[in-house]
Amino acid sequence: MSLQNLISGKELSKIILTKIKDQVTKMVGEKPQLVIVQVGNNPASNKYIQHKLRACEYTGIIGTHLVFPETISQVDLEKQIITLNQEEQVHGIIVQLPLPKQIDEQRINEIISVTKDADGFNPATLGKVVLNTSTIFPATPAGIVKLLEWKNIELAGTNVVIIGRSNIVGKPLANMLINKSATVTVCNTKTKNLQEIAAKANILVSAAGSAKLITPKFVNENMTIIDVGANFVDGKYCGDVDFESVQPLVKYITPVPGGVGPMTIACLLENTLTSFKNQQIATKN
Ligand code: GUN
Repeated sequence: MSLQNLISGKELSKIILTKIKDQVTKMVGEKPQLVIVQVGNNPASNKYIQHKLRACEYTGIIGTHLVFPETISQVDLEKQIITLNQEEQVHGIIVQLPLPKQIDEQRINEIISVTKDADGFNPATLGKVVLNTSTIFPATPAGIVKLLEWKNIELAGTNVVIIGRSNIVGKPLANMLINKSATVTVCNTKTKNLQEIAAKANILVSAAGSAKLITPKFVNENMTIIDVGANFVDGKYCGDVDFESVQPLVKYITPVPGGVGPMTIACLLENTLTSFKNQQIATKN
């Protein structure tokens, strides 16, 4: 099977991380610091955080991992974040999701300082993303746009179908692509005639979290597929695309693993570096 049509997030993320490392290495004095807040001990979160910390280590960004008990109250978690907001040496803060039931996730996103919002989940950041005035972009959508631009895939005037309307992926990505003059259709797994709508796309982004959702009937030969799925099936990590049957039928496709996942991490660190620079400019003025 020829795999010439793969878009390697592994390759592009390495290029981005190396550029960050070059900048951080040259810094005299203070270095950027990213604080990763974890609540409880979710096995998937443990894995993602391990990858994020490893990327920090590679670039020279200081990665700090704070773990709080599964039973922490809303008030106590908010107090911890407010403290981090005030610490001058902290430039980026993320709270790893999912959070336990007693925690109001949206409220947590709202109290992370906009100036340290490395995930880009604060509603004020998202508002600026919609208006195209932000310097911070949610990491997964940012990674997807970078993958498309890296392969010189035209966005202006292109029909993009996104399956998934989450606050983390679908909604910000749709707006970022609209700002690049793409024609965007946002679907979800309840959309009627999903297969038919998807099959007409130039770019199909699947962020549904449903293994083997995308079969040959969803695709066409000029299509680029971005697979955002992160599913565990029979102990194996796989995306939303039935890769074996679909990969030979399309122009470009991202693999899972090695596609969007590493790009999310690279863009998270890029956001941390941007926040660091923004804060340095703000303190000089
Ligand atoms: N859980 C799954 N994806 C993400 C992400 O991008 N950021 C955070 N904080 N938690 C997540």
